[in-house]
Amino acid sequence: MAKKTDSTAVLVLHGPNLNLLGTREPETYGHLTLADINRDLTTLGEAWEARVDSKQSNHEGQLIDWIHEAREEYHGIVINPGGLTHTSVALRDAIAGVALPCVEVHLSNVHKRESFRHTSLVTAVCVGSVLGFGPNSYALGLRALLDYLRA
Ligand code: DQA
Repeated sequence: MAKKTDSTAVLVLHGPNLNLLGTREPETYGHLTLADINRDLTTLGEAWEARVDSKQSNHEGQLIDWIHEAREEYHGIVINPGGLTHTSVALRDAIAGVALPCVEVHLSNVHKRESFRHTSLVTAVCVGSVLGFGPNSYALGLRALLDYLRA
């Protein structure tokens, strides 16, 4: 594991089913793949003088392990927890437990969708949230996190 250094390091975490982006419900999530989104975030990170690493898992426990490990290597986290947003107390507790600044992002505007998506268990333990801008939600979330970390 790399050590946390002086230059800003951000971990981008993608939760369940986001590996299917590009083919998954494109009318809701668009046509870009996760690889496209991650590549764009790496490029933005270079432009904004930050190291950006991206990881995706369909497994709650794996995401929680990565959040714990992030304390050693990263200054903050951008996270799209996917469906776990609405259900996972454990993910919420992991974010609260590591006390790393986190920004919640969603491709879709969850408040315009089914009522079960209107509750997020993670919002209250994040610095803020960006939702509804498609892949640009990630770019806006990264920019907001970097500004927060450097303020
Ligand atoms: C999502 C919204 C969630 O409700 C859904 O379960 C996802 C994707 C989004 O990015 O819009 O998997 O997090």
